[in-house]
Amino acid sequence: MSTKKPNITVIANLKGGSGKSTVTFNLGLWLLNMGQDVVVYDLDPQGTLSDLAEIRAEEEYEPAITAYQNKRNLIKHLQSHSGQVLVDVGASNMEAMKKAISVANQVIIPVPPSQPDVWATQRFLQIVDTVRGKKKGPKLYTFVNRADTHYAVTESDETEELLGQLPNITLIPHRLCQRTIYRHSLSEGLGIFELSRSGKAVEEFSTFAKAIFPKIKAKS
Ligand SMILES: Nc1ncnc2c1ncn2[C@@H]1O[C@H](COP(=O)(O)OP(=O)(O)OP(=O)(O)O)[C@@H](O)[C@H]1O
Ligand SMILES: [Mg+2]
Repeated sequence: MSTKKPNITVIANLKGGSGKSTVTFNLGLWLLNMGQDVVVYDLDPQGTLSDLAEIRAEEEYEPAITAYQNKRNLIKHLQSHSGQVLVDVGASNMEAMKKAISVANQVIIPVPPSQPDVWATQRFLQIVDTVRGKKKGPKLYTFVNRADTHYAVTESDETEELLGQLPNITLIPHRLCQRTIYRHSLSEGLGIFELSRSGKAVEEFSTFAKAIFPKIKAKS
């Protein structure tokens, strides 16, 4: 076991399809490309991240992703690393979600642009409150994922405004738009910037990732 503490980032919320696995996977690859040690925990029985790690291993894509599934001593296991630990977890495993939140340094909550998703985020924050009790708890971030790209559609602006009003949580003002490259790259076991080095999605994601990990600089 390492003596240096890990930096544990949980990507979670209660609603399905908000982009937890997609964001975790792309953040993992972004961190690896920045020269960080990264392990990923896939605490969702659907096993999306485990499948993605498996495809990369089969295709011999570099960098490889190390993905763990739920462990009996989950909290100890999460804390046994020294680098970046990313945790993908949804409502299908509330027990694991609460354990991960209890040891997280930060929790990131992707929210698609809709009112029910904002309501679900408020409920999720209540769960975080019960987990942290009187302790300081993790730093909480939220952002709009799958934002509409058309200027006339106002849901993303409205959702962002509502998220900005929630207490004790930081709104990341860099939304990720709904872009087909996320689905295309994911189905091949690739990150978006492995499919394309430039483009709007890649620019958006880099800006977003830097906002979450401001201290991490590209390796020279
Ligand atoms: N910004 C985006 N643009 C386009 N497609 C996206 C974006 N984010 C996620 N998706 C796609 O939406 C679908 C659902 O995303 P994902 O599986 O990451 O969500 P999830 O929150 O992990 O869902 P679940 O709760 O079922 O685990 C996937 O096909 C994914 O590629
Ligand atoms: Mg998922």
